[in-house]
Amino acid sequence: MISKRVQSIKPSPTLATDAKAKALKQQGVDVVNFGTGEPDFDTPKNIKQAAIDSINAGFTKYCPVAGTPEIKNAIINKFKRDNSLDYTAEEIIVSSGAKHSLYNLFQSIIDPDDEVIIPAPYWVSYTDMVILVCGKPVIIQTTDKTNFKITPESVEKVLTSKTKAIIINSPSNPTGVTYSAQELKEIAKVCVKNKIFIISDDIYEKLVYDNFKFTSIAQVAPEARDFTVVINGVSKAYAMTGWRLGYAAGPKNIISAMSKVQSQSTSSASSISIKAAVEALNGTQECVEFMRKEFEKRRDYIVGRLNKIDGITCRKPEGAFYVFPNIKTFLGKSFNGKTINTDIEFTNFLLDRAKIAVVGGSAFGAEGYMRLSYATSIENIQSGMDRLETALK
Ligand SMILES: Cc1ncc(COP(=O)(O)O)c(C=O)c1O
Repeated sequence: MISKRVQSIKPSPTLATDAKAKALKQQGVDVVNFGTGEPDFDTPKNIKQAAIDSINAGFTKYCPVAGTPEIKNAIINKFKRDNSLDYTAEEIIVSSGAKHSLYNLFQSIIDPDDEVIIPAPYWVSYTDMVILVCGKPVIIQTTDKTNFKITPESVEKVLTSKTKAIIINSPSNPTGVTYSAQELKEIAKVCVKNKIFIISDDIYEKLVYDNFKFTSIAQVAPEARDFTVVINGVSKAYAMTGWRLGYAAGPKNIISAMSKVQSQSTSSASSISIKAAVEALNGTQECVEFMRKEFEKRRDYIVGRLNKIDGITCRKPEGAFYVFPNIKTFLGKSFNGKTINTDIEFTNFLLDRAKIAVVGGSAFGAEGYMRLSYATSIENIQSGMDRLETALK
């Protein structure tokens, strides 16, 4: 009864972990939730006020499918200001979240059996979205030993006549790995030579640490402009995950195809969220820096604590709000007569024994790791690390 396409994908495992942790909390269980992929901060006041004003002014109707001129201008200015990138209004589309932009993009460029290169560990939705449009994910496996980074050589190795696109996600979910301008330039050269689409998911752009300078691959590969699409949104930078507002920038013909898909599926993003996003992008950016600094403190703390635990090694990420420690030494060990063989069994053990919710690395295409989101208070992180340490002892 259910289509083969839908049968071939799975529900988002990160959203499932988050739901499980929240359900346990509601039942009164004291769970520390490291599963959530969203800032714990509230949306800044000025942004909320812009939405309230838009409701009061009756700005509550359908908008143009790809976004109003006002939000497109705000996005054009953002690209100019932050990334030195120039786009016209026809090269921008606003969607109901960056996830939605990505889905529209895959619908627009992928034919059956087209291959999309995805570096692993990857964000859980990339592979399933590609499968949903009958494309084929081609994984480049990376490990903590090579800083979870792909190289031009590793891209070249997986290229075939069917390769259609590559996804670059820097800073990355789940590893926090962030590529330098030079590294991106080298990877872009291979893409240009082989004429494959570059999909640059820049959603964590604002969350970089230790004075790391973010670069979008679109900036260092102007020669790839005709087949580069940048994906971004307001969810992570402005604590606006529930507002569902993302956007894409790229060549006019691709954006126009995405707009056609959107016109036949969801229409414009919410008018109220559009007004809120205009304020987010045009208003004061102090909130972004405040949250970034808080995340940096938490990253330093959690990485320090994890590396003090016998058997865990954790690379210090340059960006996003996740850590992705290696837990391989624990696999094959037993507790109460039960052997823990996989990272999923390991994370189940942590939830049962220590009441901490984390996501197993295999959900991100990397067995033997776990992902912890530090988008939670320092008190929660402290308590979670105490529990982890005790359980693993
Ligand atoms: C790498 C990555 N891209 C895109 C998204 C989707 O963001 P949005 O809330 O704008 O749909 C997420 C959210 O977790 C993400 O981690």
